[in-house]
Amino acid sequence: MRVLGIETSCDETAVAVVDDGRATLAHALASQVEEHRRYGGVVPEIAARSHLDRLDGLVRAAAESAQIDLAAIDGFAATAGPGLIGGVMVGVMTAKALASVHRKPFIAVNHLEAHALTARFTDDVAFPYLLLLVSGGHCQVLLVKGVGHYTCLGSTLDDAAGECFDKAAKMIGLGFPGGPAIEAAAAQGDTNRFSLPAPLKGRDGCDFSFSGMKTAVRHAVEALPPGPLTRQDANDLAASLQQAVTAHVIDRLSNAVAMSASDTPTALVAAGGVAANTALRAALQDLADENGLPCVVPPPALCTDNAVMVAWAGLERLRLGASDPLDFKPLPRWPLEQLSA
Ligand code: KG4
Ligand code: ZN
Repeated sequence: MRVLGIETSCDETAVAVVDDGRATLAHALASQVEEHRRYGGVVPEIAARSHLDRLDGLVRAAAESAQIDLAAIDGFAATAGPGLIGGVMVGVMTAKALASVHRKPFIAVNHLEAHALTARFTDDVAFPYLLLLVSGGHCQVLLVKGVGHYTCLGSTLDDAAGECFDKAAKMIGLGFPGGPAIEAAAAQGDTNRFSLPAPLKGRDGCDFSFSGMKTAVRHAVEALPPGPLTRQDANDLAASLQQAVTAHVIDRLSNAVAMSASDTPTALVAAGGVAANTALRAALQDLADENGLPCVVPPPALCTDNAVMVAWAGLERLRLGASDPLDFKPLPRWPLEQLSA
């Protein structure tokens, strides 16, 4: 079985073809980072226009590199939400058109489910597993019981982890996108220079809170001499923030491990753009080791937005017999708990 997947929910336009042997037959990705950089964030209208300009070419490029006739694809999947609705509509419309022309099923993929199932594509992880989903818009801990079966154990009370990195990077003067810039600066910085809060420490449950850290970064910046930060100040603040975010995530996740023990998860899994962060990955590995759990974090390129995960989530649904009607409406908000297989 081969499925073509399309991702257009944020600022990456991507097309991939995967098969049920967990092989990537093609992956064509065009990042819009340069188009949004001067605005310091993703501009939805620019994103939608750019997806529209590039998507057809990427579909052709993916088919050519997979050396596959589109007629031989078993299903066409696209991220149908949550995300920036203009871009999502471009991807969904294209997948529906391909499905209609080739008389094959269309699969509306939830972007969060695509992140959540990536570890099954890379490492064949069995259900149930404990999942940390950390991206630009989401921060949740879930028990993944099956395709379409998610129990949320905790989520953020305010900002997402990636949002915290992105906003802090702006304040520090590290630009856009923030997460990778924080990671690069942190590598040259002193984690102990600035003391940032440890939210919810000692409290039960596995909810997150990042707004206090963001405010603390702003206060730290304001306490420094006016004008742009020195390279060293920026590096030290980035290192302190990365350390505080990592410690917070691990503190909350250690509660989640205890909370999910009776479900005997097969692994500790992470997904989403922030899971590309090296310091977080190392800390997750340590936490898993301490608890005797395998730790599975997909390679960074499959943590950040991509189309392989969309094609794979489409394939997982299709092989269970699920597909969606051609009048399926894209959903700007679409919590995982609302899904069924
Ligand atoms: O999953 P993703 O690509 O898009 C969403 O669905 O949101 O996640 C993007 C988020 C951004 O906030 C970005 O700053 C963050 O992931 N990110 C990182 C790293 N790479 C991307 N955060 C920390 N360290 C990184 N290396
Ligand atoms: Zn994402």
